Amino acid sequence: MDLRHLWGLDPTVDFLNHGSFGAAPLKVRQVQASFLRELEAEPVEFLARRLPERLLQVRRRLGLFLGADPAGLALIPNASTGVATVLSSLDWREGDEVVLADHAYNAVRRSIAYLGHRYGVREALATVPFPLGEAGQIVEAFERAIGPRTRLILVDHITSATALVFPVAEIIALGRQRGIPVLVDGAHAPGSLELNLDRLGADFYTGNLHKWVCTPKGAAFLYVAAAWRERVHPLVISHGYGQGFEAEFDWIGTQDPSPWLCIPAALEFQEGLGWEQTRAYNHGLVVEGRQLLAKALGVDLPHPDDRSLYAGMAAVPFPGRALPGVQQELNARLFKEHRIDVPFTAYDDRLWIRISAQRYNHLDQYRRLAKVLAGGWPR
Ligand SMILES: Cc1ncc(COP(=O)(O)O)c(C=O)c1O
Repeated sequence: MDLRHLWGLDPTVDFLNHGSFGAAPLKVRQVQASFLRELEAEPVEFLARRLPERLLQVRRRLGLFLGADPAGLALIPNASTGVATVLSSLDWREGDEVVLADHAYNAVRRSIAYLGHRYGVREALATVPFPLGEAGQIVEAFERAIGPRTRLILVDHITSATALVFPVAEIIALGRQRGIPVLVDGAHAPGSLELNLDRLGADFYTGNLHKWVCTPKGAAFLYVAAAWRERVHPLVISHGYGQGFEAEFDWIGTQDPSPWLCIPAALEFQEGLGWEQTRAYNHGLVVEGRQLLAKALGVDLPHPDDRSLYAGMAAVPFPGRALPGVQQELNARLFKEHRIDVPFTAYDDRLWIRISAQRYNHLDQYRRLAKVLAGGWPR
């Protein structure tokens, strides 16, 4: 079934990059527009009187979806804010170490560099081989990086450049055995993977909803385990300070809450399509798409066809070195010359082409990309 009309994406573009920013369906965008009309018709009624109860309902609905106690869910604009909120809530001492993988998102690694400049905190890298044989190698890499100065383990649930699903339950267990808190960066996970955060047992988990749940941009959450709720505060302190986790996060100054208010509509939209069907469809396209690309480029696939290792995205090696600016240049050139939007990523100084799949995509789009690449692009 062709579902492109549900999203309203530009029909002249083969959009194979759901992963970067997601894409909101028309129905959800209509809901957002109606919230914005209501807000601007009577701002005080909307923000001061109606919003608190609405946010509570949104967190309850989100809690059901995530398997999470809504009292530990903070609505935030993006996963970057989730990571920054946790990092700013911990007490750091010179020489403390944060363990994270060399596959971690660059902006998150820069946040650790900032802690380094401010407090003398060090990054302890878990070097995860890529190409990768099996998930056990990821756990071993984390285990090797943990040391006596480790204060936090920060683990991606799905890596950005390499699109790998990390076995976070095993890594949380490593932290638990040693009394080290674990922050999961699940920027790509909600919607891509089935989650039960209370059962998973991370100390902190942040995830985007604007990517794979398809809300409008600016909807994300931070989950904080009960033992930490008194110690985690928003980056912006406001009226709710000292009145508990929910009050502190529900109001951090005047802003547009419409992306958060669209969370129930996006969940309803996705439930209408069926989460199981969507995950199976997206993964199936990526399985075939990455094979087409590898064949066109004459390269080996970087990991086996194991469903536990990847979801709705996959990375395939692309010839050339990852020099500054090269990825952006390739992306812009492919878009300009062929109207295909797909990101080129960097890991370990090598280049990768990362495909995404969402219900609006179809196999012909990956075939078209493979044909362009097989023709020797870029010349
Ligand atoms: C692993 C990872 N962490 C964090 C982020 C940041 O997400 P946002 O830009 O929504 O804050 C991304 C974005 O793609 C990501 O892939």
